[in-house]
Amino acid sequence: MNMSAKPLLPASIGVFDSGVGGLTVLHQLQKRLPQENFVYLGDTARLPYGDKSGDTIIRYSLENAAFLMEKNVKMIVVACNTASSYALEPLQQALGVPVIGVIEPGAEQAVRVSEHGRIGVLGTKATINSGAYQKAILRRNSRANVFQVACPLFVPLVEERYTEHPAARLIVQEYLKPLKAQHVDTVLLGCTHYPLLKDLIIEEMGLGVEIVDSGASCAEKIKIVLKEWNLQAANDAIGSHSYFVSDDPLKFQAIGQQFLGMAIDKVELISFFSGKATR
Ligand code: DGL
Repeated sequence: MNMSAKPLLPASIGVFDSGVGGLTVLHQLQKRLPQENFVYLGDTARLPYGDKSGDTIIRYSLENAAFLMEKNVKMIVVACNTASSYALEPLQQALGVPVIGVIEPGAEQAVRVSEHGRIGVLGTKATINSGAYQKAILRRNSRANVFQVACPLFVPLVEERYTEHPAARLIVQEYLKPLKAQHVDTVLLGCTHYPLLKDLIIEEMGLGVEIVDSGASCAEKIKIVLKEWNLQAANDAIGSHSYFVSDDPLKFQAIGQQFLGMAIDKVELISFFSGKATR
C-alpha cells in the first residue's frame, strides 16, 4: 500500500437548478439517498430560466455543470425542468460523468400511472415550448394524448409564499381549466416549484387524477443508476450537503427551507465570469 497517497474525498452528486426550486428535487434525493454527499448550485443571479431562449439555457447549464465538475462529482442531476428540456444532450456530450435530468423519469412515470393515456403537462413557458415532455411521453406511448399548459405565474406565486393565498387558488383554477376540459387522468408537474402547489392542484383536479412529480421520479431513477454504475456511497456513510449560489445567499437560505423541508446552514456565493465560475 502506498502510504503517501492522499485518501480521495468521497465523490458527491452534483445538482443544479436555476435557483431555489431544485431544492424540491434535492429533498427527494436526500430522502432516498441519505448516505450520499450532495453539492447543490442554484444559479440565482440568472433565474428565471423559464422565459429564456434555448441557446441561453444551454450556455448557463454548461457553466453550472463546469462549476460542479470541479467539486469531484460522480454524477450531475439537472434538477431544473427548463434546463433538462434544452441542455441534457449538450451536457451529456460535454461531461465525462452520467448526467440525469427530470424529463425522461417524469415522462416514464406519467405513462406508467396514466390509465387512459390522457396526460396533462404543466411547466414554464420554455419547457412547454420545447415540447420535451410531450416527445418523451409519445416515445413511450405513441397513442397518448398530451395536453400542455405553460404556467408562468406559478413560480413567482411560490417564491412569494402565496401558496395559501386565495390568489393561488384562482390562478391554479385558471391554468387547470384546459386539462379539466380534456378529462386528463394524469397531471405531470414539470417544474421544480409545482410540488408546493400540489395540494391545490389535487383539490382542483379531484382525487381520481394521478399527480406525477418529476423530481420524485428523477430521484427514483438516480437510485437505480447509482447502483447500475456501481457509484453508490457506502451504506453506513453519512452524507454531507453543500450549497452554492450565484446571487444573494441569505435570500436562498431564507426561502430554501420551504423547498428543502429542512434548514440550510451555510450557502456560499460564486460568480460567473467569462463563463467560468469563481469563488
Ligand atoms: N427551475 C425552473 C424549472 O423547473 C423554474 C424556475 C425558472 O424558470 O427558472 O423549470
